[in-house]
Amino acid sequence: MKLGVVILAAGLGKRMRSSLPKVLHPLAGKPLLAHVLEAAETIEPTRIVVVHGHAGDQVRAALDGHSCTWVEQAEQRGTAHAVMQAMPALADLDRVLVLYGDVPLISPATLERLIAAADGSPLALLTAELPDPTGYGRILRDTEGRIERIVEERDADEQQRRIRESNTGFLIADRARLDDWLSRIDDDNAQGEYYLTDVTALAAADGVDVASARPDSLTEVSGVNDRVQLAALERAWQRQQAERLMRAGVTLQDPARFDLRGRLTAASDCTIDVNVVIEGEVEIAAGVHIGPNCVLRDCTIGANTEILANCVIEGARVGADARIGPFARLRPGSELADATHVGNFVETKNTRLGAGSKANHLTYLGDAVIGAGVNIGAGTITCNYDGANKSRTEIGDRAFIGSNSALVAPVSIGEGATIGAGSVITRTAPAEQLTLSRARQHSVNGWQRPQKQPKS
Ligand code: UD1
Ligand code: CA
Repeated sequence: MKLGVVILAAGLGKRMRSSLPKVLHPLAGKPLLAHVLEAAETIEPTRIVVVHGHAGDQVRAALDGHSCTWVEQAEQRGTAHAVMQAMPALADLDRVLVLYGDVPLISPATLERLIAAADGSPLALLTAELPDPTGYGRILRDTEGRIERIVEERDADEQQRRIRESNTGFLIADRARLDDWLSRIDDDNAQGEYYLTDVTALAAADGVDVASARPDSLTEVSGVNDRVQLAALERAWQRQQAERLMRAGVTLQDPARFDLRGRLTAASDCTIDVNVVIEGEVEIAAGVHIGPNCVLRDCTIGANTEILANCVIEGARVGADARIGPFARLRPGSELADATHVGNFVETKNTRLGAGSKANHLTYLGDAVIGAGVNIGAGTITCNYDGANKSRTEIGDRAFIGSNSALVAPVSIGEGATIGAGSVITRTAPAEQLTLSRARQHSVNGWQRPQKQPKS
């Protein structure tokens, strides 16, 4: 059975009140449409066709990591019309599964169940019992419980509106039969649109026993029409992720104040305090503690390392037993070995810091290779940029850099070297020696501080 997936994403999304196409609004840091594409990819169909509307270039560019066929629906004339645009791209397939680009949390498990329901029927619908079905199409069944048709809210009468079994919009159909049903749909309804839901009545009239399946949860079939619904789904998704992590052994100080916008791999006994945002791919080893208000993006943190409050860590690797922060910023290319300490108001970029080395306060380390057991004093700056070029600073093992030193790169500090506080170092500082470059201190004997004259 060759399966094609059609994702409908041409709607205008007016209620978002946004210049960004609705399906590109992010949920957990990723476009709504990317969530749907990933669910579709998981079930491994032969082909995925996305029907887009205006701003097609923008939508395609935002999803360029996915392999799918793009089809334009220039005018939005209804869900059936949208599927019709995709049918030529599916002509060689057996079955067609229809998904919505603005219903992001559909799970592969539910899709598999819907596909299985279609094993005995050329048409299967995903339906749900909604506490408040307002706005949804209602499923009309006959006295034997067989599906007869779907009636849209706007076309429904009082009694039909009381039905709670609703059309989620997701369906799977035999491709050839769907082609035939689509060709027979008209736009004679309250909205003057071609309704995909009308395939149900056509199938039933053809004597088809329309099958149905249910989702595992209602969030899976909840759509995004405005930013209120988007926020609600974001919270639902975050809650799921938080629960998954807690079940896997991560302590979240408050699951309602934790945001995952990517993937977090956490070993046992990690603790994450409130207001932590995880982005991209983050890996934390056993016993890692992340303090409040930290942002971690694309980084790995070694075992038992402690990230104190208010750190921003991006594109960095931190070893085991390290202590970072509070208020530290590790930028891309930072590689901190085991037992390193990087304290408050320290910024590192494209820098290696060897085992046990410390930069505890107010420092910038950029394009530097720093050995083990080094002590970087407060206020040390690697002057790595001359306005045009970036240059490297090398610091040997056990060096001690006195406070408020400027290391003007390219420059190298030997092993065990000591740099006197306040130095501007522009040439190699030899190993095991004291190097300093600052005005010599002197005192003026008998000097008198000027005195204010008393006003007469
Ligand atoms: C649709 C269903 C309704 C169901 C509801 C579930 C129809 C006629 N009605 O109604 O039974 O309960 O979804 O959410 O199908 N789209 C296009 N091109 C179009 C029109 C829509 O691509 O011309 C896309 C939209 O971007 C959206 C999806 O199709 O992703 C659904 O369209 P929407 O207008 O939201 O349908 P509803 O009126 O909500
Ligand atoms: Ca809708």
